[in-house]
Amino acid sequence: MGLFDTGRMIHRSISPGVATSLSAPGYAQPASTQAPDATVLRISTPSALRFQHVTHTFISSDRSAITALSDVNLEVGRTEFVSIIGASGCGKSTILRLASGLLAPSSGEVSVFGLKVTEPRNDIALVFQRPTLLPWLNIADNVTFPERHTTGRVTRETADRALQILDVVGLRDFAQKKPSELSGGMQQRVAIARALLQDPDILLMDEPFSALDALTRDELSVELLGILDKRPKTVIFVTHSIQEALLLSDRIVVMSPRPGKVMETITVPLARPRGLDSMLDPLFSEMANEIRSKVFTRSGKA
Ligand SMILES: Nc1ncnc2c1ncn2[C@@H]1O[C@H](COP(=O)(O)OP(=O)(O)OP(=O)(O)O)[C@@H](O)[C@H]1O
Ligand SMILES: [Mg+2]
Repeated sequence: MGLFDTGRMIHRSISPGVATSLSAPGYAQPASTQAPDATVLRISTPSALRFQHVTHTFISSDRSAITALSDVNLEVGRTEFVSIIGASGCGKSTILRLASGLLAPSSGEVSVFGLKVTEPRNDIALVFQRPTLLPWLNIADNVTFPERHTTGRVTRETADRALQILDVVGLRDFAQKKPSELSGGMQQRVAIARALLQDPDILLMDEPFSALDALTRDELSVELLGILDKRPKTVIFVTHSIQEALLLSDRIVVMSPRPGKVMETITVPLARPRGLDSMLDPLFSEMANEIRSKVFTRSGKA
């Protein structure tokens, strides 16, 4: 088992808040709880994603400058699930584009597994806010496209796995259809399937369930939890749904209105494994109310 895999095991076996601090660079345990050498080696591995004093300013088509993010500091541990919540326009999608290497910050540094991000990486998959499918390819070919693009071919095994994942997102019967023959929500599920097939170390999801009806949304949230249990990944998940964030996350990052800053990071203490019945836990509604008041106060709507 490699160093990377071992780090993942540690993370799942202890509480998320602790795991985050354990995986932080330079972490040293107190002498009284000093672990054996091997453990020290594992926990000193760099975090999955790190934003250090990141500011990003866009220059618009009318040449005006829009500062989307201002001095964002964020650290996400390996296999941690972090949701980002904040008002429209506060820079959530910009954070994901910076993390994926599609955008370079105006100042500050974004690093992945301890290395500065300078270009898109194969171990990161991004599910965009709007599905970006190739209209001339059928659904199965859209899902396997990243492998065809990287290696020039699609193996039998990948094609089979693509059908399994399409089954998970409820689209097995649509594998041969074209994107234009699917609804917006179905197209978004194809984009999710495409990202899952890549089996990335880091999964960036930009409001992936927003185009779906409430039932499908709940169903896919539970499926995602199951997939992550089997194949742990680091996930940064942008959502406007406090319930979704609570159900899925280890931590929730609340952002201020533009220019976006991290206002608060909340650790979700709900036990895992989670399912829809986690929402019945009194702690769930208590936390939902707390987060709602923070989000609305900060966006000036309460
Ligand atoms: N390519 C661009 N050129 C100019 N301004 C941009 C560009 N992309 C984003 N912005 C601006 O940056 C700010 C943050 O945009 P971003 O898309 O990150 O917000 P968001 O939090 O994802 O919003 P939403 O919840 O509506 O998706 C907005 O004010 C937006 O107008
Ligand atoms: Mg957005």
